[in-house]
Amino acid sequence: MEPRIRLVDVTKRFPAPDGAGLGPLAVSQFTLDVVAGEFVTVIGPSGCGKTTLLHLLAGLHEPTAGQVSVCGTSPGEAVRSGACSLIFQAPVLFEWLSAEENVLLPLRLRDPLWWAWPWRRERYRPSARAALRTVDLEGYEAFRPQLLSGGMQQRVAIARALTLDPQVLLMDEPFGALDEINRDRLNLELLRVWQERALTVVFITHSIDEAVFLSDRVVVMGRAAEGVPSIRHVVQVGLPRPRTLEMKESPEFFERVREGREALRSAL
Ligand SMILES: Nc1ncnc2c1ncn2[C@@H]1O[C@H](COP(=O)(O)OP(=O)(O)OP(=O)(O)O)[C@@H](O)[C@H]1O
Ligand SMILES: [Mg+2]
Repeated sequence: MEPRIRLVDVTKRFPAPDGAGLGPLAVSQFTLDVVAGEFVTVIGPSGCGKTTLLHLLAGLHEPTAGQVSVCGTSPGEAVRSGACSLIFQAPVLFEWLSAEENVLLPLRLRDPLWWAWPWRRERYRPSARAALRTVDLEGYEAFRPQLLSGGMQQRVAIARALTLDPQVLLMDEPFGALDEINRDRLNLELLRVWQERALTVVFITHSIDEAVFLSDRVVVMGRAAEGVPSIRHVVQVGLPRPRTLEMKESPEFFERVREGREALRSAL
């Protein structure tokens, strides 16, 4: 079976800012297969190319060399068709739209009769409600983003990413700005949604603890350098599922976190 995500020897070099000579090498010889239903997290020092990698997977950048495929097609096509969805570090919501309208936006943009939206909206409402229920925001449909907390806004962004029922979810440090308690809550919620919808997730974080808690595998990236592959180490987590917060106290959990931290140290 073809993996959901395939990166073969992918390198990304940006053009120089002044247009002359070679620009920064952001990703180097990156090779990884992610199978359907897998949860993979990428960690690595700031500037090592994590966001660039995710943007390559979302078709926002073209690789300089190598091949990327998502859901058996090009990344751009996977996003256009709704098979793949990207969540940014800060929740990108439209402040003049309610939570429900934000969640419905991907459908509205794809509706051939978009100009008749005020009349068409009704038929889509149940799916928005269902997506908001999934992230525990029932009753907040009419709220504008500025009336919601940071964590709630990020949950609206997750609900929106689920609107088109994607197979693949790409998440760039989605809970980085949250306190630990809220992050734990959203981690558990995310794992529930991941399991319910049989999603394939590529997740970025700076927290080794979060990476180990969520993932099947943790990919440790180092700074890109000519001739040195970006992936420095892969931690096979192997903790049972469903994960519980109590597992964070177990010796196995500590062992994996230690392994990740050591790999990260030598990646610096
Ligand atoms: N659009 C761009 N044009 C030119 N260079 C870029 C561009 N985007 C990223 N870079 C460069 O690519 C490298 C990797 O950046 P990237 O944003 O992928 O790092 P990151 O691992 O996500 O860092 P952080 O953990 O701080 O978010 C950096 O050297 C950055 O300057
Ligand atoms: Mg980044």
